[in-house]
Amino acid sequence: MAHQWRGVIREYADRLPVTEATKVITLGEGGTPLVHAQKLSELTGSTVYLKVEGMNPTGSFKDRGMTMAMTAAVEAGAKAVVCASTGNTSASAAAYATAAGLKCAVLVPEGKISMGKLSQAIAHGATLLQVDGNFDNCLDIARKLGDSYPVFLVNSVNPARIQGQKTGAFEIVDALGDAPDIHVLPVGNAGNISAYWKGYKEYSAPFESATAGTLPAVSTKTPAMWGFQAAGAAPFVAGHPITEPDTIATAIRIGNPASWDTAIAARDESGGFIEAVTDEEILDAHRWLSAKEGVFVEPGSAAGVAGLIKKHAAGEVPTGKTIVITVTGHGLKDPQWALRTEDGSEVQPVKVPNDVVTVASELGLEEN
Ligand code: F0G
Repeated sequence: MAHQWRGVIREYADRLPVTEATKVITLGEGGTPLVHAQKLSELTGSTVYLKVEGMNPTGSFKDRGMTMAMTAAVEAGAKAVVCASTGNTSASAAAYATAAGLKCAVLVPEGKISMGKLSQAIAHGATLLQVDGNFDNCLDIARKLGDSYPVFLVNSVNPARIQGQKTGAFEIVDALGDAPDIHVLPVGNAGNISAYWKGYKEYSAPFESATAGTLPAVSTKTPAMWGFQAAGAAPFVAGHPITEPDTIATAIRIGNPASWDTAIAARDESGGFIEAVTDEEILDAHRWLSAKEGVFVEPGSAAGVAGLIKKHAAGEVPTGKTIVITVTGHGLKDPQWALRTEDGSEVQPVKVPNDVVTVASELGLEEN
């Protein structure tokens, strides 16, 4: 009989802070494809996979954490939730709040979130406020609202979010049979690198389950975590927060990451690093993914791929290894970048008359 994926909470219930009595708020998130990246594998001489998180219900990895956060909100008796966002968290919060029957308020930096993400929050009925400030300012306000007003904070400073997001690591190990050697991903507010590291660590040792006793280790090792930030928004590379972060990759336009310490721990305990890639490198990787691998992502999501390509060019990617790159959000979130050529000009679709001979000639086809 066909098996319907039940969302990350039900699939990994024994490794999450839930019980049989928990009322689960889910839209069926997780269970995303681990796609063999043929061209990146050929390029590097390692076996490279893409964890395609754009396939989640709202088109980004945020849904993994949001199912947990919204479940916790309902459990806490909340009536309303709030988050700050560069766009994907707000889209996810709005959808999951709808599923939970809760009110949702989202704070986004004015003019700095993509049209797709803005439409999602509006479509799901969230109250969207554009703040005259950047993401870090929005998160400040959201935290204060959560502390002093009757609203439940669903940003990744809420540990429920990290719990949900760690399931990405579980799925990768379950698919590969062991942990990869290297895990590559973009870093913004740094929740995801923290969550993946937590997931990999928990799967590599016996785990004290709240409901199922001691679970055996699933993997024999943990990967090195390679994080990449946009060069104009790279506080981990600078070693301190940045006050005016800037990048075309609006998803990761963040100067003061909330999960600072856990991201540093993920980097150092795993033997990895967090480095930067330029906007041009991000856009090149964005084009590489869509044109060579068949995977369409939003620019911020391409930062990990940009980093791998850059490291390879520097001769710093080992061969014969297994490498997983999380591509975090769907290309349709922010499609305008696909319509830009390498030299920055707009792609103009060719117009043709309603006539097969002209169409064939335009396509370079000769009649049989
Ligand atoms: N990729 C995408 C597509 C994102 O939307 C984000 C973060 C990241 C990567 C970075 O992940 O913050 O866990 O290090 N987006 C947040 C938001 C900030 O509001 O949607 P992180």
